[in-house]
Amino acid sequence: MRIERFLTGITTSGTPHLGNYVGSIRPSVGHSLRPGVESFYFLADYHALIKVDQPDRIQRSTLEIAASWLACGLDPERVVFYRQSDVPEIPELTWFLSCVLGKGVLNRAHAYKAAVDKNTAAGNDPDADVNVGLFMYPVLMGADILMFNAHQVPVGRDQVQHIEMARDMAHSFNHRYGEHFVAPEAAIEDHVATLPGLDGRKMSKSYDNTIPLFAPREQLKKLIGGIVTDSSAPGEPKAVEGSTLFQIYQAFASASETHSLRQAYANGISWADAKQLVFERIDQEIAPMREAYQSLIDNPARIEAVLQAGAAKARAIATPFMGQLRHAVGLRPLQTRASTTAKVAKLALPVFKQYRESDGQFYFKLQGADGRLLLQSGAFASPKVAGQAIAALQVDGLAALHGSPVPLHRGPDVTESDIAAALQALQIAKEAKPG
Ligand code: TRP
Repeated sequence: MRIERFLTGITTSGTPHLGNYVGSIRPSVGHSLRPGVESFYFLADYHALIKVDQPDRIQRSTLEIAASWLACGLDPERVVFYRQSDVPEIPELTWFLSCVLGKGVLNRAHAYKAAVDKNTAAGNDPDADVNVGLFMYPVLMGADILMFNAHQVPVGRDQVQHIEMARDMAHSFNHRYGEHFVAPEAAIEDHVATLPGLDGRKMSKSYDNTIPLFAPREQLKKLIGGIVTDSSAPGEPKAVEGSTLFQIYQAFASASETHSLRQAYANGISWADAKQLVFERIDQEIAPMREAYQSLIDNPARIEAVLQAGAAKARAIATPFMGQLRHAVGLRPLQTRASTTAKVAKLALPVFKQYRESDGQFYFKLQGADGRLLLQSGAFASPKVAGQAIAALQVDGLAALHGSPVPLHRGPDVTESDIAAALQALQIAKEAKPG
């Protein structure tokens, strides 16, 4: 079974709200728990700089978003959870990609085009108030995705164009320099609800109609009380179609709970009672996580440590991969001969070594790209079985480590994530090879 690699980023420009929770956090955390999936989640703080120039807000948002993901059950041991700006290889790759992508492609990017159209309509210079960061947004996003050779990127429809551009960049680069990148696909999340906000429009920071995910109970109650409704009186039947309150309830309730509210609407429940019901239902789901959130927010050093550990995992992949790419484009130490990319890729990769000891038994070890001993096997009776154990590690990753019939020992100071990262680097290198 091929391990599907998922990757998604969240721009650190504000406080997470219920719309982010329903549309992104909840489904992603659920997804990360499935077998056969390897997930990358990151805080897109370089992206945030495009629209936010308040340093404290960037920092606060990074803290709040990280705490939200962790409080909602993201397991940093199981996924690679990191901050974009802790991986300097990403802006470096952005530059590489910007040198293979046609400028015309970026001219057609939705966000940039919308800004230009707005300026034109207002009779201004087409590029008035547009920074180069906004123009380059899709390239930075492409680097996020291609750096880890993600197969699937869960996105809303509005982001599909960005994934197509990332594919475009992957192909252009591969065409010039050899097969280094996997072309990513958009995993379109049509089934995930888009939550309406307080005023009935899509819940969004830009409409100022959000309900913060971890608003204290009293504030949550007050905000839900402020959701727009029509003016029908208690006792009058109410329509569920177009009812913001109903849609929000639906995103949290089971099918049978939703059915009951539908009945209650028909029977003329008062808006006050309906709001109370919706409030209690949402709070029931959020309250247990609220406590975890608060304790995380109160302990930023703990989150920082989690992010640093995540960055180490991410860079265990990004650093050797970027080395491979630098070599491919010709940024090389002068004494190195113009050898093939594959050869250098091999130099920068971890390696399995199989051998026979004087006891007549067969062994293998996994060595890191830097020569460090990552994994040492116990004795196998035959080279074939040892080979099978290696193959299992290559295909199933860490799962094979625990399922092995012969004990496999980690090297000194080696963690499971070191091993996971090494196995993943091997897998990516294998997939990126032609044929
Ligand atoms: N563009 C995404 C957003 O609007 C954030 C993002 C940045 C992202 N890089 C990404 C999403 C890579 C998926 C993959 O929030």
